[in-house]
Amino acid sequence: MDEVVGRHKPSSILEVGTNVGYSAIRMARHLKAGQRLTCVEVSGDMALAARVNFEKAGLSDLIEVIVGDALSVLPTFTTRFDMVFLDAAKDDYLDYLRSVEKLLHAGSVVVADNVKSFYPAVKPYLDYVRNSGRYASSYRDAPSNWGTDEGDAVEVSVRL
Ligand SMILES: C[S@@+](CC[C@H](N)C(=O)[O-])C[C@H]1O[C@@H](n2cnc3c(N)ncnc32)[C@H](O)[C@@H]1O
Repeated sequence: MDEVVGRHKPSSILEVGTNVGYSAIRMARHLKAGQRLTCVEVSGDMALAARVNFEKAGLSDLIEVIVGDALSVLPTFTTRFDMVFLDAAKDDYLDYLRSVEKLLHAGSVVVADNVKSFYPAVKPYLDYVRNSGRYASSYRDAPSNWGTDEGDAVEVSVRL
């Protein structure tokens, strides 16, 4: 995540599935004043915990937390995103992407988490980013979030 954010230097990021804000903090600490991270989280309790953590991290001014089901919230967005991080319901990754695809531009990067541990739920998503001709997509090994030895992977897809 740090490597992708460092390389692409996004000024507008969308995170789908925020939980208590761990990855959001890792992404937002790369942002400068005036740039933004938009987080969508379905659980009000998790969103509240994330807001507390963003405040503690001194990053509240850069992060907006929207509480709701991403499948309903994402289609309402109208501003462009330089980066999208998909980490909510694994079998909805493709629907999330299609909901915001019109808001991506050439060079926007989409990172999908847990594509090894949640295969085959993520297969329709992987088929799309690899075969639609709209993305340059690569599979990257990553440490597991779940404390297992097998590791996990992310799919990093750059909009063409
Ligand atoms: C793996 S956790 C996210 C972890 C976070 N991205 C991080 O790396 O720190 C997945 C989160 O997605 C949320 N979630 C699941 N389905 C969702 C949906 N349809 N819309 C928004 N959030 C959802 C869950 O409540 C949970 O907090």
